[in-house]
Amino acid sequence: MKQQDIQFDNTGKLRHFLTIEDLPRQTLIDILDTAENFSTVGSQSAKKVPLLRGKTIVNLFFEGSTRTRTTFELAAKRLSADVLNININTSSTSKGESLLDMLRNLEAMHTDMFVVRHGESGAAHFIAEHVAPHISVINAGDGSHAHPTQGMLDMFTIRRHKQEFQNLRVAIVGDIMHSRVARSEIHALNRLGVPEVRVVGPHTLIPRTASTLGVHVYHNLREGIKDVDVIIMLRLQKERMQGAMLPSEAEYFSQYGLTEEKLSLAKPDAIVMHPGPINRGVEIESVVADGPQSVILEQVTNGIAVRMAIMSMVLGRKQESAG
Ligand code: CP
Repeated sequence: MKQQDIQFDNTGKLRHFLTIEDLPRQTLIDILDTAENFSTVGSQSAKKVPLLRGKTIVNLFFEGSTRTRTTFELAAKRLSADVLNININTSSTSKGESLLDMLRNLEAMHTDMFVVRHGESGAAHFIAEHVAPHISVINAGDGSHAHPTQGMLDMFTIRRHKQEFQNLRVAIVGDIMHSRVARSEIHALNRLGVPEVRVVGPHTLIPRTASTLGVHVYHNLREGIKDVDVIIMLRLQKERMQGAMLPSEAEYFSQYGLTEEKLSLAKPDAIVMHPGPINRGVEIESVVADGPQSVILEQVTNGIAVRMAIMSMVLGRKQESAG
């Protein structure tokens, strides 16, 4: 079954959020507009709205995370949902319980949503295919396949700074090969109408099929970021690399690391983004990561409003049909 088939329920509403690929443009715009409404909740004295009161959301992170797990938890709490964080290392999976048995047991606790991060591409989709009908699944990053909430928070951040997508030049730099973030961003940028999306990196870290994704491929950083409006730097995903894909980190930094001098080739008002975690001195120098053009910490803040938007759209759908 194709992913776009299971993301929507039989009334055409979003039930799961697994990938941006093939989502209609209007769904992406709805997420961005809804997130805009939620963006002030964090600065209220009582940082809560009652939209998901009585709902129970389970965070299932089979792979490490700082930003995504905590902002999902905060987003759920700000929507007044109850949140369970399952510690996979101390769960009964360590006693041989299968993933599906674990899910059946969590479903039996009358939970409503699973937020899933997993090292295997396709894991969130597999879980979505096997959960009970009342459960929704959100993909919080699966292998090198997709990280759709990161993709959407990055679109939110770009729209905040650049207003329109239609005139932008965006460069995504680094380890495109292993990056689920890059895939989700490319789908979102294309769907939102960005006319020029570039990917920049060494031959070993750009898939040969990249141009079929509707991007322009560059192997020279200076050429790749010339006159762009947005630069998205990516981490080298060494945990997903097999064999020697790079000469050395020092050589990588000299060719692909973003320095102040190289940043000056982009438009003067270009913004610098990074999904985190950052490796300072490997893909980006500190003076750029912490500099005036960096919006890296804004991305983290925006992640809460965007995750609130997606969770409320997915679980609010059921409240609408019940009401
Ligand atoms: N951007 C991102 O996914 O970061 P974490 O791995 O810390 O969640």
